[in-house]
Amino acid sequence: MPPDRTEDPAADPAVATMRWLRGPEGAAATRLAAELLARGVDLIPGLARLREEVGPEHAGPAWELARLRARARPVFGPDADVLLLTADTLEQAGRPQLAARRASRLLARGADSVADLGCAAGTDTIALARAGARVLAVDRDPVARELTASNAEALGVGDEVWVSAGDIVELVDSARGGEIAGCAAATLDPARRAGGRRQLDPDRWSPPWPTVAALLDRVPTSVVKVAPGLDHDRVPDGVEAEWVSLGGSIVEALLWGRGLSETWRRTTLVLDGAVLELTADTDPGNAPVGPVRGWLHEPDPALIRSGLMSLVAADLGATLIDPTIAYLSSDAPADSPWVSSYRVDEVLPFNLKKLKALLRARGVGRVVGKKRGSPIEPETLARQLRGPGSASAVVVVTRVAGAPTVLVCDVSDR
Ligand SMILES: C[S@@+](CC[C@H](N)C(=O)[O-])C[C@H]1O[C@@H](n2cnc3c(N)ncnc32)[C@H](O)[C@@H]1O
Repeated sequence: MPPDRTEDPAADPAVATMRWLRGPEGAAATRLAAELLARGVDLIPGLARLREEVGPEHAGPAWELARLRARARPVFGPDADVLLLTADTLEQAGRPQLAARRASRLLARGADSVADLGCAAGTDTIALARAGARVLAVDRDPVARELTASNAEALGVGDEVWVSAGDIVELVDSARGGEIAGCAAATLDPARRAGGRRQLDPDRWSPPWPTVAALLDRVPTSVVKVAPGLDHDRVPDGVEAEWVSLGGSIVEALLWGRGLSETWRRTTLVLDGAVLELTADTDPGNAPVGPVRGWLHEPDPALIRSGLMSLVAADLGATLIDPTIAYLSSDAPADSPWVSSYRVDEVLPFNLKKLKALLRARGVGRVVGKKRGSPIEPETLARQLRGPGSASAVVVVTRVAGAPTVLVCDVSDR
């Protein structure tokens, strides 16, 4: 771990602005901006008021930081009030609850120093330091380094954190003996957006895929955040892939290095603070296919992505409605956190006119649209099917045995 925590105060104006925001004048201006925002003051009068206090150069940054903190508060709680953020780093920041979970698993086998490769605003760095590690936080972006240093200090873990400029590709290339930059463990969260657009190709992430693979090879006590859509074929042998779901969406996909890997695939569901996990040591294969029966089950997206749907299907006595579609069906409702279930009232070939007539006849005026394997957008479908009736229905547009099919379901899921 490098002993030198000082950084060259770059002449970068963005860094200078962050330093001003960290100082007493910046803190006072951001507090004032937060009060104005809380009172519902609009941008133009808000900025005018701030300009009177701190001048035109600083009014905008103070307003922006107050706005970002307000946006961060639902996820970061009271920590948000002291975090130094930019719009980009807030967007890239993971949830503290999940960062803490990752940190505790990364350290569980005794590592006490971690390289956070690409620290951005330092939210992972802070979680690692809070979990008891000494953290080397690396980023090539001077603003990111300024944010991480400021945030670690503001949240009381500054003494555990060393912030350093560096290129992740070079650091991974020079990793030896299971260590990287003198640290026993590493966490890597590649930038997966460029120019405001998501980079779907892992070879275009920064750092790119070869560095991800090399890190997993060279530093067994490592974890990498990857895109949820990562192709299973990319996952190196012996590395565990985990998909984490919260509130019905995949919030993280992780690759655990061989020193931490415990299984082939893991699906994790975070539910009201509780954590449910499903694992498989080998590929369980696909669920069998069968007809649409009395109940339709919509699997959690993390379950689908992890390739473990067939385990839940076997538990529920359920079958796929089509070999290419991730909907399950069974005779009975499912009492399972891994799926949402709907009672199937009708199964009919897709025909908008006939569907409308059927819904009118049933007094259905409000529709929740769902689709899989169809180009139709659920919102468009719901709008097209809206009518005068007071009843509601879930309308699922999908494919059954290859044919475009509509399932009309009861609205109460379970
Ligand atoms: C997705 S963000 C990390 C977010 C962070 N883990 C968090 O929880 O807030 C990726 C970071 O990696 C940095 N980065 C990307 N490529 C890099 C490279 N080759 N060397 C150093 N830093 C790099 C970017 O500047 C960015 O701050």
